[in-house]
Amino acid sequence: MSIYRIQGGIPLHGEVTISGSKNAALGVLAAAMAIDGPSVIENVPRVSDIETLLRIFSKLGADVEWLSHDTVSIDPTKVTSPEALMPEVHELRGSYYLLGAFLGRFSRVRQALPGGCNFGSRPIDLHLKGFTALGAANQRMTDEQIEIEAERGLKGASIFLNVVSVGATINIMLAAVHAEGVTVIDNAAKEPHIVDVANFLNAMGAEVRGAGTDVIKINGKAVLPGRKTYAIIPDQIEAGTFMMMAPLTHGDIKVNNVIPTHMEPLTNKLIEMGCLVEVGDDSIRTVLRPDETYTATTFKTMPYPGFPTDLQPQTVAMLCGAEGSGRVIENVWDNRYQYIEHLQRMGANIMCSGRLAIIQGGVPLKPATVPCRDLRAGAAMVMAALATEGESVIEQIETIERGYENFVQKLQGLGARISEERSK
Ligand code: UD1
Repeated sequence: MSIYRIQGGIPLHGEVTISGSKNAALGVLAAAMAIDGPSVIENVPRVSDIETLLRIFSKLGADVEWLSHDTVSIDPTKVTSPEALMPEVHELRGSYYLLGAFLGRFSRVRQALPGGCNFGSRPIDLHLKGFTALGAANQRMTDEQIEIEAERGLKGASIFLNVVSVGATINIMLAAVHAEGVTVIDNAAKEPHIVDVANFLNAMGAEVRGAGTDVIKINGKAVLPGRKTYAIIPDQIEAGTFMMMAPLTHGDIKVNNVIPTHMEPLTNKLIEMGCLVEVGDDSIRTVLRPDETYTATTFKTMPYPGFPTDLQPQTVAMLCGAEGSGRVIENVWDNRYQYIEHLQRMGANIMCSGRLAIIQGGVPLKPATVPCRDLRAGAAMVMAALATEGESVIEQIETIERGYENFVQKLQGLGARISEERSK
């Protein structure tokens, strides 16, 4: 088992460059498999979830080539069979985008069921409802795999999502770009990565309008030629993780390569808590001096533009160092507090009931050995360890590396005393 060793209690100072968004990249790379020609994608994060997805593409017969550290070219034209049954499909949640991508291109798909972080029930009923509306009503699901077919091809339709779902919105878009006629997705998710996938598809020849609002309209096209270069947006969650380390360690951290509007749900909270926040064109500096404190407040996770659930564990870690009692209400996932017992092992005073967590700040944490329950929970463990004097050990770090590129090097660049020990 590989571990991080962290000597905490040191304020972090300096600048860190944020990588491309993992969740946007999962959607955009899948979209590259939905089109009919090659494309070049820049600002791709080199994290293990992305490497896994690209391995799946290669096994499916696509030409995948890294042109530089963060630029990949994908040519899906040699993929002739929409069957993704390799074990890697089960390793990540984002593999479910192949359902929409292949339905669009082949009107049929057979795929192993997706995996990913486990924070409660993660149904795909809305994805399937959307595919049914598009004419892919022939659906069979077992414990192992799912098979979907549109016997008469895909036809545009009006689809209302009764729950706002990032995955369902992207998946329906991926299928609908090839459907005959117009598709309308009502109550669509508005996350920045929805807009990113739509922008990529439009750059490749699709006609997707309204991404980033509640209603997305897609005019289907028989052929999407591709042959363009597209750059993925910066990772809002990675940026938020580093920003929250500033108050927690009483440091001064500037994140570069960010889109400040994407960060507003967090920026506003950091200001409310008493941090100095300087917003530039593509950077944000967050400062809390050693002699200052920050005040606890309430966070409610919501679909964008609400506060992101993927920053919820990091927020709980941050509130451990605040003055007063903070509250977090998790409105997206029904079981995303499983990591709290690990913060409690470090001495955190947290009460948790259903969707509510109450964090009593200002209780000094003690070093401990803790696992990474899931990707963002792992980042929260690292944050807690960075704020705690003494040596902590973080186990199962492969989980963190699914979504944070060069995490150790970036933290070391900010002055953190962190090292990694690898075991095969
Ligand atoms: C994506 C992100 C994940 C993030 C989540 C919410 C990726 C790869 N993952 O996950 O990191 O935490 O958005 O921002 O981008 N739901 C249904 N039926 C469905 C689909 C979803 O009821 O068919 C519910 C879910 O149980 C959940 C809510 O909708 O309560 C939101 O889920 P969704 O937005 O779909 O999350 P993902 O796309 O899986």
